[in-house]
Amino acid sequence: METLLLLYLLGLALAAAAAYFFFGSFVLGAGYQPTPARVARRMVELAQVGPHDEVLDLGAGTGGLVFLCAAQGADVTGVEVEPLRFLFLRLRRSLSPYRARVRIVRENMFRTDLRRATVVVVFLWPGAMERLKPKFETELPPGARVVSYWHPVPGWTPDQEDPPLRVYLYVKKEAPVTGEN
Ligand SMILES: C[S@@+](CC[C@H](N)C(=O)[O-])C[C@H]1O[C@@H](n2cnc3c(N)ncnc32)[C@H](O)[C@@H]1O
Repeated sequence: METLLLLYLLGLALAAAAAYFFFGSFVLGAGYQPTPARVARRMVELAQVGPHDEVLDLGAGTGGLVFLCAAQGADVTGVEVEPLRFLFLRLRRSLSPYRARVRIVRENMFRTDLRRATVVVVFLWPGAMERLKPKFETELPPGARVVSYWHPVPGWTPDQEDPPLRVYLYVKKEAPVTGEN
C-alpha cells in the first residue's frame, strides 16, 4: 500500500515536471516543442543563413535551430526565458564546436533588441507572432529575413514559403520614400 502511494506521488511529480517543462512558458509566448530537424534544415536553406549573418532565435528552446545556424558559419544568439532550457542551452553551448559563434541569453524576447539581426528564426504561437510583428516592423533593418515555422506573421505576405512543411520566409523591405523623408 505504501509502495503504491509512493509510486502514485512519483507519477504525479513527474507529470507536474513534464507539464511545467512543456507548458510553463506558454503564458510568456509559447510552450516548448522543438522544430523537427528536417524543417529546421529547410528554414536555414530558405533564409540562406551563412557566415555574414547575425541570427536571433526568439524562444530558442533546446537549441536545434541555434546550433544548426551556427554550423552554417553565422553568429547566433539564442533567446530563452525558461530557466531549465536556458541552463541546458548554456551547457550545450559549452560542449559545442561552434561555441565561439553562439550566445545564449535569458531574456523575455518581447524586450530583445532586434536591430542588429540579419535573420530571425521563430517557432512560436500566433499570439506571440502578433506581439512581435510591430517589433519586426520597427526594429529589423531592411533586408533582414524572418523565417517562421508553422505560424505565419499575421498580415504579411511571405516572399517564399514551403506549404507542406509550413515554413514562411519574409524579407524586410526598404522603408518607402515619401515626401517627408
Ligand atoms: C515552440 S518552442 C521553439 C524552440 C526552438 N526555437 C525550436 O524551434 O526548436 C518555443 C520556445 O520559446 C520559449 N519562450 C516562450 N515565451 C518566451 C519569451 N517571452 N521569451 C523568450 N522565450 C520564450 C519557450 O520557453 C520555448 O522554449
